[in-house]
Amino acid sequence: DHLEAAGHVCVLKDASDLESSSGVAKLIEAENLEAALALHLYRGGRLLQGHGVPFGIIFGGTDLNEDVNHEEKNKVMGKVLEEARFAVAFTESMKEVAETQWVDPVFTREVEAKVQRTLGVRLVGEMPQGDLHAALKNCFAVVNSSVSEGMSAAILEAMDLEVPVLARNIPGNAAVVKHEVTGLLFSDPQEFVHLAKRLTRDPALERDLVARGTEYVRACHSWQAERHTYQSLIRTLEGSIQD
Ligand SMILES: *[C@@H]1O[C@H](CO)[C@@H](O)[C@H](O)[C@H]1NC(C)=O
Repeated sequence: DHLEAAGHVCVLKDASDLESSSGVAKLIEAENLEAALALHLYRGGRLLQGHGVPFGIIFGGTDLNEDVNHEEKNKVMGKVLEEARFAVAFTESMKEVAETQWVDPVFTREVEAKVQRTLGVRLVGEMPQGDLHAALKNCFAVVNSSVSEGMSAAILEAMDLEVPVLARNIPGNAAVVKHEVTGLLFSDPQEFVHLAKRLTRDPALERDLVARGTEYVRACHSWQAERHTYQSLIRTLEGSIQD
């Protein structure tokens, strides 16, 4: 009613009456549909994929609470969201589930579009660890511009691979990168540009950062030390079982 009040002509269909994709294609053609709205990401959403008709999704509930745990359905829903123009969640927690499960599709499209327009920037998908390390080793530097907290394994790997690190100054990064000691920390784009230029012009700085980064990562994050720590932690559990 609301949509028709705004001047649209609407066709309402039950997803279970349209179980196949060709059924949807026929409907789109027969009714000359220009856009679609699906209720339920899996049941409705998957039927709208690949028809070239723009669509939006309204999460149903069981899509986010039940179907996400089903591997195949989860994959399908991720694909549907990539194609969807928007998605509507009734609660903040539903939105969070969707965002955790499938990186924000609108944001993903923004990033992809921006990258495509930017000369010299390429978006590379996931790759096996060995290939990634080989590629990293050929890089001039590793940049982490994350604004959200965590612990960057990528920074530690870069240090171990003797690649200089430029990271945004947030607590998670500052915990492993000491400015001008084990890497460089920036707070805004201007500072990043400034430090990146400095690094390219100063081979001695690069050498020092790499040397101290490698030293730091081998001393404080070595797998030998980690192995020893976890082995003794497990031993304390065994001890308490025997006691
Ligand atoms: C970037 O740094 C953040 C904070 O330390 C971390 O959570 C994230 O995993 C890092 N990402 C990469 C690719 O290094």
